[in-house]
Amino acid sequence: MMNKLNIIGASLAVLFASSGCVSRGNDTGYEYAPDMYYSKGYEPYNQADSFAVNPYGMSMRVPVAGSIALGKSAFIYPMANTGEGYEAAATQVVAPPEGIDLVETRGKYMYNIYCTACHGLEGNNDGKVFQKVASLKPAWKGYSDDYIKNLEEGKIYHTLTYGKNNMGSHASVLEPMDRWRVVKYVKLLSSKGAVSTADTTLAVANTMSN
Ligand code: HEC
Repeated sequence: MMNKLNIIGASLAVLFASSGCVSRGNDTGYEYAPDMYYSKGYEPYNQADSFAVNPYGMSMRVPVAGSIALGKSAFIYPMANTGEGYEAAATQVVAPPEGIDLVETRGKYMYNIYCTACHGLEGNNDGKVFQKVASLKPAWKGYSDDYIKNLEEGKIYHTLTYGKNNMGSHASVLEPMDRWRVVKYVKLLSSKGAVSTADTTLAVANTMSN
């Protein structure tokens, strides 16, 4: 009798133990006291349930239209993506007055990543893409061409932001200050030809947090 009870007890124990270990994939299991985990207070960054009043059922409010995140005003580019916008950029889009630093380090680094495939390391329009698909090439030969020498920086900034014909927008990969650094680097290539700086560019790029 005692033996039988022991066996029943033991198998019950095994059953209990194993039921807790059953793998349930992404199932989070039971919550015994949800109001201890989820605040009843209205907390904008804490989304436990769908809220009836706010858009998309968010517990957070959407920012007022036209809001600019703190410190991000440089990301607002006012010129329209049109021919008129491009022409106006020539005079209305100017580099920040405090000067653009790191042109030959960060600027060159970004240029080498994003521009050389087409325009080539020294801006001679001899990158791999232009070599393979010559029909993509612009009419001007390279940055040493008078066209680029005389091209207003604002127009280059505009082209980097929106793209132009076969050149795509680079706004998603170059934040505004980097766009200016690259614009200045293009002008440097245009006036001097190749710029050789020690290859500290990677280190500089990595220490930039922007
Ligand atoms: C996919 C190839 C490609 C890449 C990558 C590319 N470009 Fe271009 N770029 C072009 C073509 C094509 C044009 C000619 C556009 C036109 O006027 O039709 C051009 C035009 C330009 C011009 C003249 C702009 C103007 O306003 O007329 C500049 C300056 C320039 N590119 C710089 C850059 C820089 C800097 C980068 C890297 C951030 C870059 N490009 C990346 C293909 C490319």
